[in-house]
Amino acid sequence: MRKKLIAGNWKMNGSLADNELLCKAILAGLAGDDGSQTTAVAVCTPSAYLSQLKNLLTGSKISLGSQDISSHDKGAFTGEISAAMLKEFGVRYAIVGHSERRQYHGETDTLVALKAKAALAAGITPIVCVGESLAEREAGKTEEVVKRQLAAVIHENGHCISEIVLAYEPVWAIGTGKTATPEMAQAVHSVLRAQLHAASPVAAERVQILYGGSMNAANAVSLLACSDIDGGLIGGAALKAADFLSIVAAAK
Ligand code: 13P
Repeated sequence: MRKKLIAGNWKMNGSLADNELLCKAILAGLAGDDGSQTTAVAVCTPSAYLSQLKNLLTGSKISLGSQDISSHDKGAFTGEISAAMLKEFGVRYAIVGHSERRQYHGETDTLVALKAKAALAAGITPIVCVGESLAEREAGKTEEVVKRQLAAVIHENGHCISEIVLAYEPVWAIGTGKTATPEMAQAVHSVLRAQLHAASPVAAERVQILYGGSMNAANAVSLLACSDIDGGLIGGAALKAADFLSIVAAAK
């Protein structure tokens, strides 16, 4: 049975003071909780705060994640952060191909696949995001889009594909309060599972497929009950300790 993963994506939010309060409240909420056998918890923070979060989380049950990673090892790539640098801060996960990166920073399927490769080479687990826009869903292209996005990652990473985490994030459900119903989400997750299976039966067994897109304390139980939904990538609700903890509790 796959362990569940609840990962917060803080996006470009936080401050030194707010992060400390949020982090301490989440840690207090998880104290004495033996659920780490079945559910892993992570927070993906702005890079500027990785050092702070490393200090706050070392020795805890919460893993640290970044929201992006460079596809390059080092050199003249102003503004980018390499996998080796992230490793120095104890980073365990790196989100790659978030729709906000694809949309606002022009990231292509190929670049996303190369970022996943850079993460894997450094022993960082990439959380690879795929998802369709509203126009693509309405045009009946959901499957085609997510399969194309995942195919690029499979192509570039070969047998290492079993070491990734996948996140289905319908773009129309991100930050909008609109959520895919459990049936809609499960349908896409099972398409992704089948695509992984065709590439590698081992990967299909192992890879956690998270749902992201307005997952919250109210809808988490029904989404997480679906057979191919192995956790959540949480935006807005990850910024409130009580909501985030409710989602973690729903994953048990
Ligand atoms: P929301 O939970 O705010 O919709 O964001 C989802 C997301 O983009 C997580 O990566």
